[in-house]
Amino acid sequence: MTNIAILGFGTVGGGVYEAISRCSKKPLCDVNIKYILDLRTFPEHPLGDRVTSDFDKILSDESVSVVVETMGGTGAAYNFSLAALKAGKSVVTSNKAVVDKFGAELERAAAENSVVYLYEASVGGGIPIIAPLNNCFPVDDIVRVAGILNGTTNYILTHMQSEGKSLEEALKTAQELGYAEADPHADLAGLDAARKIAILAGIAFDKYISYESIPHIEGIENVTSEDIRLAEQLGCVIRLIAVAERVNDKARILVAPHLVGASSLFHAIREAFNAVSVTGSAVGEVVFYGQGAGSLPTAAAVCGDIERAILGKATTVVRKDCEEGFLLSDDGEGRFVTLANGKKYRYFE
Ligand code: HSE
Repeated sequence: MTNIAILGFGTVGGGVYEAISRCSKKPLCDVNIKYILDLRTFPEHPLGDRVTSDFDKILSDESVSVVVETMGGTGAAYNFSLAALKAGKSVVTSNKAVVDKFGAELERAAAENSVVYLYEASVGGGIPIIAPLNNCFPVDDIVRVAGILNGTTNYILTHMQSEGKSLEEALKTAQELGYAEADPHADLAGLDAARKIAILAGIAFDKYISYESIPHIEGIENVTSEDIRLAEQLGCVIRLIAVAERVNDKARILVAPHLVGASSLFHAIREAFNAVSVTGSAVGEVVFYGQGAGSLPTAAAVCGDIERAILGKATTVVRKDCEEGFLLSDDGEGRFVTLANGKKYRYFE
């Protein structure tokens, strides 16, 4: 039996409990959720008696070998993760903000303490993308990683198109379904997608890249129903796409709404689904598709990391720092299409 602790019992933390309690496969069916850290109490919950607000209790319990951080935020979530790693406990997280801001330090701490810091669930919800990117392209140089990486905005764009909903109406439903961030500005303004592409680009290009260094981050706030209708007349949909591409020995990263033609697989990505396209120098294009947000899909990715941590199947890769000048500024290159109302969109292919 492996004892774990879940820090934060919200949408994802609750999903991890659900997923583990339904699981009949080893080693996850042998996982014991010994503690749940939360400021709230859950008296009706089957594990209500395991809820504590005292992190030190978890830290000092040597029988806990894996800590699952699903708290959100970058304060306590970071402090508790670092403390757990230093105490020799592996940490698994869905928290892309912490990975973005403190990933370098936390990965070093994991390596120094012979444990792992894993964050599959931080990008693409339930889609396994980080483990494959780390492990499954042995001979390839990654030339491009591109993705529809934000479920909330994809849900909104889909419903603005199919039902003529306003952005605000569609956002409200996305919030009710548990897709949106606590502050949905991060979704709408492209910041969530930027954090995710920064993580993927970091793995692809072996650097620590923060989303704050991405030169062009544009969200969907200015996409109108008219734009969507005019795009449709051209046989296109509008999707928020994050792209990281290698340009000689440098990289260009951007997040922006794009027109997507019917020849692209991304044209078919609807609702809160995500897709990630990875282009390798040898393998060519490989596309990953699945549920990009939501309680159980995200929990499934967390559970994959718990399993890897238990089985010792993962190693923490300590990347290089991102040197000055590695990221090219957005020079407006690329193919643009002008809609009948005069608005210009990048074209994704
Ligand atoms: N708010 C995020 C999204 C949640 O909509 O994709 C999953 O990271």
